[in-house]
Amino acid sequence: MTLPTSELATALPACDVVVFGGTGDLALRKLLPALYHRDLEGQLPDDTRVVGISRSEMGDDAYRAVVRDGLAEHVGDLDQPTVERLLARVHHLKLDARSDDGWHLLHGLLKDRPEVSSRVFYLAVAPALFGPICERLEQAGVVDESARVVLEKPIGTDLESARRINDAVGRVFEESQIFRIDHYLGKESVQNLLVTRFANTFLEPLWNSRWVDHVQITVAESLGVGDRGGYYDSSGALRDMVQNHLLQLLCLVAMEPPTYVGRETVRDEKLKVLQALKIMSPEEVDRDTVRGRYTQGVVDGAVVPSYDDDLGHPGSRTETFVAIRAEVQNWRWAGVPFYLRTGKRMDQKISEIVVVFKEPPHAMFPHSEGVTGPNRLHIQVQPEEGMRLSMTAKEPGPGGIRLRPVSLDLSYATTFSERSPEAYERLLMDVMKGNPTLFMRRDEVEAAWTWVEPILQRWASSPDRPQRYPAGTSGPTAAATLLERDGRTWQESDQ
Ligand code: BG6
Repeated sequence: MTLPTSELATALPACDVVVFGGTGDLALRKLLPALYHRDLEGQLPDDTRVVGISRSEMGDDAYRAVVRDGLAEHVGDLDQPTVERLLARVHHLKLDARSDDGWHLLHGLLKDRPEVSSRVFYLAVAPALFGPICERLEQAGVVDESARVVLEKPIGTDLESARRINDAVGRVFEESQIFRIDHYLGKESVQNLLVTRFANTFLEPLWNSRWVDHVQITVAESLGVGDRGGYYDSSGALRDMVQNHLLQLLCLVAMEPPTYVGRETVRDEKLKVLQALKIMSPEEVDRDTVRGRYTQGVVDGAVVPSYDDDLGHPGSRTETFVAIRAEVQNWRWAGVPFYLRTGKRMDQKISEIVVVFKEPPHAMFPHSEGVTGPNRLHIQVQPEEGMRLSMTAKEPGPGGIRLRPVSLDLSYATTFSERSPEAYERLLMDVMKGNPTLFMRRDEVEAAWTWVEPILQRWASSPDRPQRYPAGTSGPTAAATLLERDGRTWQESDQ
């Protein structure tokens, strides 16, 4: 439904949203579509503007044409009045983040706007530019107390570079003005994880080492690196996915209940989990981590190229798959392994958390037939959003007790009629409102790097290379061995 402009929500103050990387993939694929959807819902106040910054010489009209094409490609069924309303808010400014020229134009564009309560600077650019852009924003006199800066991951490539970036940005903006995005925290099903755990009573008594055998977190993608090879090859799956998205999911599974859901309380609890992660020795890295790299294979019935072919040259040591056995060393989770797994070019796109409970302490049905397993709670993050509890039931009928695995299913799509908003919609609105709860604080980012770094270092010094796995599979065989060694197996989504 399209709301008339006069019914725009008043809760959100008008903003100037300045997007560095305004013609880039993220802006066109995620940010502008997210703003379109919020505008469609009537949530962007009249005076809100979007200023796309790029190095190209293009005026407002040419940039609007680029945005229009982007919306057509990435949104699908468009509401034309909303498109026009959004385009009218859109402006373009040519600026080179590496040069001092032209920043007075940004000052000119943003000044004298009493109707606007804050400026949001969204840095959808390489992290090496975060510091220089912030410095030039300050020199241009456009950073005031109400300004906010949004940083896209990755924040650095290791602890030291993350600290350098945080220091550089922190010289201009207060920590309360810095919004570090991990878009997984904006996903509906990820937020629902908090609600499931803490707005229901029956799980909490079971959510610990006494009843939970282990936890599996899988974020699998069927796509390869595509045209992001340049960035990806200097990053790899550990930096690109584990240091941020998978660790954030782990935090939400493992954290203690905060006293209330507030700006700092959730982040305080997540930080404690990150700090409780067992730092691995080089021997433990060899034993408890697996790296892989995809070779040519078949995905969705089509032959797809190897990573080397995607890159355009052989010889890379970058991993496109990681599996890790992690431990959270605290009272609640001592002795419970958290198995993390992520990869490109796997057999399907699926993100799922599986909490595997212990077997019943006593086998009461020794002569029963049928194969069942332990109870498992599957939290489905994507593509389907929902939750499935695997249980054991008696198969109906006479002639003895036959056990059968059954599941209690909650599908978001069938339970709720509302459209599930994209993560960036929620996160952008939170930035505009100044709510940092779903953003990573400096100490979280650095704690995550502290855990990841020994793995990076060991891999860098080890003569071993990532193991090969054919595209379209569930990764290298060593990933299966990692669990088999502990007498466990990966729970695939159809189990
Ligand atoms: C990004 C990574 O942060 O997340 C990409 O840089 C990855 O490599 C993407 O493809 C996955 O996000 P989603 O929401 O599609 O699971």
